[in-house]
Amino acid sequence: MCGIVGFTGAMVKSQDISSILLDCLSKLEYRGYDSAGIAVISNDRVEVRKAKGRLSNLTSLVEREPVSGFTGIGHTRWATHGEPSDINSHPHTNVSGDIAVVHNGIIENHVAMRRWLEGKDVTFRSETDTECIAHLIDFYYEGDLVTALSKTLQKLEGSYALAVVCRNEPENIVVARKDCPLIIGRGEGNNLLASDVTPLLEYTREVQYLDDNQVAKITPEKVEILDLEGNVIDLAVSHVDWDLQSAQKNGYEHFMLKEICEQPYAIDQTYKARVYGEKLDLGEITKTVKDARRVVIVGCGTAYHAAVVAKYAIEHYSRLPVEVDVASEFRYRDPLVTEDDLCIVISQSGETADTLQAMRIFKEKGAKIIAITNVVGSTVSRVADHVMYTQAGPEIAVASTKAFTTQLMCVFLLTCALTKDEQKQKEMMEELSTLSQKAEAVVCRQEEIQRFAARQFNKTKVFYFGRQSDFAISLESALKLKEISYTHSEAFAAGELKHGPIALVDENTLVVASCCHPKLYDKMDSNIKEVKARGAKALAITFEGNDAFEGVADEVFQIPKTDPYFAPMLSVIVTQLYAYYCSVNRGNDPDHPRNLAKSVTVE
Ligand code: AGP
Repeated sequence: MCGIVGFTGAMVKSQDISSILLDCLSKLEYRGYDSAGIAVISNDRVEVRKAKGRLSNLTSLVEREPVSGFTGIGHTRWATHGEPSDINSHPHTNVSGDIAVVHNGIIENHVAMRRWLEGKDVTFRSETDTECIAHLIDFYYEGDLVTALSKTLQKLEGSYALAVVCRNEPENIVVARKDCPLIIGRGEGNNLLASDVTPLLEYTREVQYLDDNQVAKITPEKVEILDLEGNVIDLAVSHVDWDLQSAQKNGYEHFMLKEICEQPYAIDQTYKARVYGEKLDLGEITKTVKDARRVVIVGCGTAYHAAVVAKYAIEHYSRLPVEVDVASEFRYRDPLVTEDDLCIVISQSGETADTLQAMRIFKEKGAKIIAITNVVGSTVSRVADHVMYTQAGPEIAVASTKAFTTQLMCVFLLTCALTKDEQKQKEMMEELSTLSQKAEAVVCRQEEIQRFAARQFNKTKVFYFGRQSDFAISLESALKLKEISYTHSEAFAAGELKHGPIALVDENTLVVASCCHPKLYDKMDSNIKEVKARGAKALAITFEGNDAFEGVADEVFQIPKTDPYFAPMLSVIVTQLYAYYCSVNRGNDPDHPRNLAKSVTVE
């Protein structure tokens, strides 16, 4: 999704303003984008440079046409209204070019606004929804940018994180947010802003998370935060302890591979954050969990798959009914939720638009919400009653890996808390304490998976199947492969094979069978034989010591033995690595898959 940045004040490490803005934008590249631009207040003018395509195009443009100054804003655009092009790239300006705006989100009433402004003889240059914001600010500007922006916001419907600069106020950046993240970084002699924390880490660790319907005036020395009526708000400053190293590649070819390899540590950290002396300590969550009669879990994409894994584990161990849904469906289907439900939302970024809407429904129904998120201070973390943070550190690759396995650790810890049988709970905790080492054992065998991918990467169809939580992990495995290798991959419950999917199986098919439920080995054996008989190649993932699939599947990958309900945390590492190496073998960039954005902050 789009990214925004801004900087005003004293330069850092003898960089100039454009290199600071470009550096910050480069930290947002991982979110996915198709064009980029900057606007700098330079010599009493607003200078705009923007270019379609990679950030390197913008960098070359800035090298050819340099800008200097102390105040500027920048943007990476992921096209929604209007194709990716130089003209449609942000920043957008008013007619005279004195005001420049960058925007994340969608202005839903932009057609009406455009007509209204055209009626006042404003000529539009782009097809974007954003351009109307620049013209509206111009319309309301009478010498104070904060007032002009506040009046503009009253006309806008939709979602936004906005940053605005104006020639008449050369040191100021004015920002506002509604339903899109915006974070202010507090520097020394300078202040910054960005749509997520990673661009800020180079410059400061002290940040303020702007709330919905707040406006801020950022100058080099001061940040003033106001509500829409102009009342000053005292917004807490938070300290971010993510280190810069963890947002860099550190010798790995791609962030995705680095993040796959970081999983044992991240899993361990997530476990240790909630376990003291082998005792589970969920703090206030313990009481909330005790009263639960039913559990409802929502998320999108990978986070939803963590919810599906959770459903199998929680229902099996706690005997509580668990409902899971993708947030985009849940929010529109008039769901049945009561105040007795325990609602869990899962979101790496904590900013996913559909997930936030689902949370609002939980709130309206009076249910208690536990958020599982990776980002301290994210919107999800602030709306929820309780938060379990995944200790994954910054996840830069678009395809989620370490966020997923740490989400699983959180839901397994919650499963323990929901389990009434103390002996069972003890056994589960013991097993959870071993998972990071077991994950390490899988990561260490990445070369085997690399060799397998080298042999099998050009299959045109890859199907993942399994039963119970092995089906849940098949969903995530298929998503991972399609995201970064662009291979047609599907997941289905193995028992569904004969109800349709087998019609697609032929010699161009690879089937990855997750077989980590010993009671269901025989069933999986039959399913593998059925696809093999139709010419498919098969990889079986099963536990160490189980040789039942040798000679049945073409290849067998044995993972360390664990509780079958926890096995997804290990088997997914195999399929993440397979997806990664397929992507690389196809010449793709796994960190920047086409059409995808890291954080989906619009519907
Ligand atoms: C995962 O690889 C994805 N890129 C995507 O499905 C992601 O999990 C989804 O958009 C949800 O994001 P969130 O966890 O930040 O809410």
